[in-house]
Amino acid sequence: MLSLQDVHAHYGPSHVLHGVSLGVSSGEVVALLGRNGVGKTTTIRTIMGLINASEGSIALKDVPIQGEPPYKRARRGIGLVPQGRGIFPNLSVREHLLLPPQRKQQDGQQWTLEEVYELFPRLKERERNAGNQLSGGEQQMLSIARALRGGPDLLLLDEPSEGLSPMMVERVGEILRELKSRSLPILLVEQNVRLALSVADRVYIMNKGQVVHESAASELAEDKETQHRLLGV
Ligand SMILES: Nc1ncnc2c1ncn2[C@@H]1O[C@H](COP(=O)(O)OP(=O)(O)OP(=O)(O)O)[C@@H](O)[C@H]1O
Ligand SMILES: [Mg+2]
Repeated sequence: MLSLQDVHAHYGPSHVLHGVSLGVSSGEVVALLGRNGVGKTTTIRTIMGLINASEGSIALKDVPIQGEPPYKRARRGIGLVPQGRGIFPNLSVREHLLLPPQRKQQDGQQWTLEEVYELFPRLKERERNAGNQLSGGEQQMLSIARALRGGPDLLLLDEPSEGLSPMMVERVGEILRELKSRSLPILLVEQNVRLALSVADRVYIMNKGQVVHESAASELAEDKETQHRLLGV
């Protein structure tokens, strides 16, 4: 579904990604973990095309996509739930959900408003509320719901549990497991290792702009030494 080979990225003169290689297969949930500042968001933004890879290759469904602008990558089926949620303070819940250009997933599924509201009943109740009237948890649900409306074949989520109460973190986990049960491929960036391991099939850990660990999620769950050394947990 997604493949990165030796991807490098810079912010101006500062070299942030030093040859990142990773992949997500069809129907797979992959977690991308690592401490603060190791390059997780930069990796996600490079996949989406918000930053251009200075070297290396990025392919979606075996088609090279590097150099393409974000809207083209969205059209090819990449959906993004950005770090910080990206909710517009003055747009209503409904308006957020009407924004993304409609696209069918490759399996033919299309997320109608009704289907989105079925998965997120709370958003239906708050349909007419503005973004800045929502709780953090509601904003996160809206950010996920908006990405689904775009009909993604691959969903990128950047720290969806950040800043949420334990109960809302649980809810995010339920949503991710529900999407997984529908075979939606997911690349999940998380600081919450427990949440990530509860949903992921495979994990990568980054350090200093590189992938330094790759294993099955079940293997990392058992490997407390690696968790401690690379994640500080
Ligand atoms: N716009 C920017 N300009 C310059 N440097 C940046 C910019 N954004 C991030 N960086 C730097 O790039 C490195 C990687 O940042 P990135 O946001 O990808 O980390 P992260 O793993 O997502 O961290 P966090 O867990 O805190 O979200 C950091 O050293 C950061 O300071
Ligand atoms: Mg980040």
